[in-house]
Amino acid sequence: MRIILYTGKGGVGKTSIAAATAVKSAKDGKKTLVVSTDPAHSLGDCFDIKLQNEPMELAENLWAQEIDTIHEVEQGWGVIQKYFTDLFTAKAVRDITTEELTVFPGMEDLLSLIRILGYYKEGRFDVIIIDCAPTGETLALLSFPEMMRWWMEKLFPLKRKAIKVAGPIVEPLLKIPMPSTDVLDEMERMYDALDEMKRVFSDRETTSIRIVVNPEKMVVKEAQRSFTYLNIYNFNVDAVIVNRVIPQSVTDSYFKAWKDIQNKYMAEISDSFSPIPIFTAPLFETEIVGLPVLDRLSWEVFGDDDPTDIKYTGRAQQFTKDGDNYVFTIDIPFSQKDDLSLNQKGDELFVRVGAVKRNITLPRTIAALSVKKAKFEDSRLNIWFGGGEDA
Ligand SMILES: Nc1ncnc2c1ncn2[C@@H]1O[C@H](COP(=O)(O)OP(=O)(O)OP(=O)(O)O)[C@@H](O)[C@H]1O
Ligand SMILES: [Mg+2]
Repeated sequence: MRIILYTGKGGVGKTSIAAATAVKSAKDGKKTLVVSTDPAHSLGDCFDIKLQNEPMELAENLWAQEIDTIHEVEQGWGVIQKYFTDLFTAKAVRDITTEELTVFPGMEDLLSLIRILGYYKEGRFDVIIIDCAPTGETLALLSFPEMMRWWMEKLFPLKRKAIKVAGPIVEPLLKIPMPSTDVLDEMERMYDALDEMKRVFSDRETTSIRIVVNPEKMVVKEAQRSFTYLNIYNFNVDAVIVNRVIPQSVTDSYFKAWKDIQNKYMAEISDSFSPIPIFTAPLFETEIVGLPVLDRLSWEVFGDDDPTDIKYTGRAQQFTKDGDNYVFTIDIPFSQKDDLSLNQKGDELFVRVGAVKRNITLPRTIAALSVKKAKFEDSRLNIWFGGGEDA
């Protein structure tokens, strides 16, 4: 069983690439579901068919679904939402639309993922391909289980049993409604689902994340940042797909300048994501709509390869703590330690080892610190970051 998640900035081609991957996977004989969690659905547009909130069979082995997030919220969150509404109404928040307040940012996406997790558990498909909302939201959603647990623990520090016993006594004193057994049951179910989700999505043998980019400045910057964050959360990024590359065969003078720009960012992409494999898709002469075009796109990207293989199994970047310092580890295979140079500028770190270059976007906590020392071990470069004077 495989889960593949496509992420990237708005409009880069996530939906098209996700659909194309599904088309090829299905043709290879794997029962495949491609599912969109983005409320602004365009998966259906790309297949040129109206999709529903249930998997729909489009061709042999090929299934597609657009998740209706509002429905998922009602189903999966209804009981808890009702409680929160009572809770907020009991407090002094009457002037704000309390219903609005009780769906936390990212909650819709989270509930969609829980639904997808259900398909995973049923083992109904061999491959599930997820077409995510644009980058920012995806990242929030992947960190959501931890964030949610934190909130739940702050809101309900009492153990379940204690609430049951103390509820009737405490309620009149605190003047806030205590959660009922129903609500507590729902929360427990939610905790379990979150734990399981975290487990499945971080299981590097099952789930991999692919970043879709275009060879353009803004897009590449955002992709570098999300790559770093995905690595912090220890998700397996196994491929980068560069979409809308102007083909070499285009010799038009108008596109000449564009090709130069794209070449520049292609080089930057390879410096930023190596050793993660990079796939490319050309800019088509048409929109990506309908099975024949999706089929063509899948060939342009993956050729004879199995698109569902885990394309990379190492850990390109890792963040660990060593006392008060953070250790940032990057994979630099085949490098010699004697010609290393490190250059930090704000949240950017430029690493050069002989002919190998890496541009890395540092997370905020680390960017505020300075490099203490660097050391090579088994093709990996460890860099220590800490506060105070440089060592
Ligand atoms: N390689 C390509 N050549 C030509 N057109 C493309 C290519 N890739 C995508 N498109 C077109 O660009 C538009 C946006 O693509 P798509 O919907 O796949 O992007 P997205 O990243 O999913 O966008 P959103 O962030 O809005 O979900 C679509 O009209 C699609 O047909
Ligand atoms: Mg999309």
